Amino acid sequence: MKRITALLAFALLVPGPATAADPPALAAKSGMVAADSEHASRVGAEMLAAGGDAVDAAVATALVLGVVQPFASGLGGGLFAVVWRADGEEALALDAREVAPAAATRDMYLDAEGNVDPQASTRGPRAAAVPGEIAGLWRLHQRYGKLPWKQVVAPALEAARDGFPVGVLLHGRVTAKKDEIAARPALAEVFLVDGAPVAPGTILRRPRLAKTLAAISKHGADGFYRGDVAKRLAAAMAKDGGLITEADLAAYAPKERPPVDAPWRGYRVLSMSPPSSGGAVLVQVLRALEHLDLKALGHNSSAYLHRLAEALKHAFADRARLMGDPDFAPVPLEQMVGDAARDRVRSSFDAARTHERAAYGGDYALPEDGGTSHFSVVDARGNAVAITTTVNLAFGSMYLAGDTGVLLNNEMDDFVAKPGVPNAFGLVGREANTIAPGKRPLSSMTPTIVLKDGRVALVVGASGGPRIITGTLQVLLNVLAFDMDPRAAVEAPRIHHQWVPEVLAVEPEIALDVRENLQRRGHDVQAQGRYNAVQAIAVDADGVARGASDPSKMGAPAAAAR
Ligand code: GLY
Repeated sequence: MKRITALLAFALLVPGPATAADPPALAAKSGMVAADSEHASRVGAEMLAAGGDAVDAAVATALVLGVVQPFASGLGGGLFAVVWRADGEEALALDAREVAPAAATRDMYLDAEGNVDPQASTRGPRAAAVPGEIAGLWRLHQRYGKLPWKQVVAPALEAARDGFPVGVLLHGRVTAKKDEIAARPALAEVFLVDGAPVAPGTILRRPRLAKTLAAISKHGADGFYRGDVAKRLAAAMAKDGGLITEADLAAYAPKERPPVDAPWRGYRVLSMSPPSSGGAVLVQVLRALEHLDLKALGHNSSAYLHRLAEALKHAFADRARLMGDPDFAPVPLEQMVGDAARDRVRSSFDAARTHERAAYGGDYALPEDGGTSHFSVVDARGNAVAITTTVNLAFGSMYLAGDTGVLLNNEMDDFVAKPGVPNAFGLVGREANTIAPGKRPLSSMTPTIVLKDGRVALVVGASGGPRIITGTLQVLLNVLAFDMDPRAAVEAPRIHHQWVPEVLAVEPEIALDVRENLQRRGHDVQAQGRYNAVQAIAVDADGVARGASDPSKMGAPAAAAR
């Protein structure tokens, strides 16, 4: 009960921009997890305290997040991980992104007139791609885990079986989607009590999900992709008109890929490679700004934000033009992160004005998010894991697969249903990201690790659709270019531009005169609330980790007890 009260007390704090009076980030040398849920951070930190590796902590954190904040991740979703191994100085990007089922077709979301039906790609079983989450976590654990698999699964299994206290965020997300949930009896049974959103502090049990987690605990990834759970999931799909079959599940495999790996201002930036656009967009913008003294421009000054917005417009235009699943058509990464791209972006910059849309190349790209979660982990041995996990939109497809308790993603909406037509995030794209069987939809997830002299300096990433990239980027710059404490860096107001729509979104705390200066340069400046949530851990040269979770999702980091 004490724990519940503490959680609620934290969650009810009203987040606002950092002030001099705010306490600094949580600091520790013993290892740390910064998730967007205090409960999940604590579970990960307990794994570290038990002698686990950063990977054990990451797997336990991800699994618990899927139970306590199921609107944003879970067994029915997928993830990307960037991992740094201190021994052997090895970097890995793990792609456990969902894939289109074998029966998917390019035009599956077009109606008889050839128009995109947005409901079809976002709601119900046909919106779901084959989940990658558990295959990814299993692979990570097989490669690097130190603690027994059962031990890292146990906190999630216990939370689902014995119940967990509903957090304010879960209550809020259920409230926001109440009508849609009420219209789906299987969801309503879980998240509504007498028709009302399950109240904060209520103990919520998920017995069906617990049964699935028990199979995973016993059999590893096979407990999900083969056998009884796979059969029941596929049978529910067949009955309800979805496409995922037992064969699709059995065929799923995560992929190890080289990360986007770039030098920047004496650091080494490791971030997610395609089929995420996150690393490429992040690095293009960092390189375009690298020659500037950003501190001299001033943090969140109009001169800085105009530069940033311009670089973002180029990078998002390139994203739409060039990017998709690299296993289907080569992604010319060099055209995004190479010297020529850097020079092109720098040379087109006009300090006085933004350009017309076409000047950034190609075609076109707001947001409903809440279906993604990022957490950052470091252990005392210098290993680090950045994981961004997703079911896409809040509560994914809103489809619970039969009696498996698995809430399936609607990641199919991250494909281009029709070239040029925006998806739920307002993002557009071309052929490279159209639907094909077995193909992975383009993502914006940007799990990122920055090294300094071969040691971890920053682990960072975000949730928030395309704002994942801009949130990650600005917090990285706040810490590494503006020397901010991670907490101040995460709390500082941010901007977003994704080229299309041609809107420069600024958080309301950005000063009025700054907004006016940006407007004068031709930007369509719109004040918008925070849609992304960044979790960051910075590590100094003495090995002290400082972590912060974004106030927008009311999470909190946790350190391993000494
Ligand atoms: N589902 C959000 C993303 O992958 O970008």
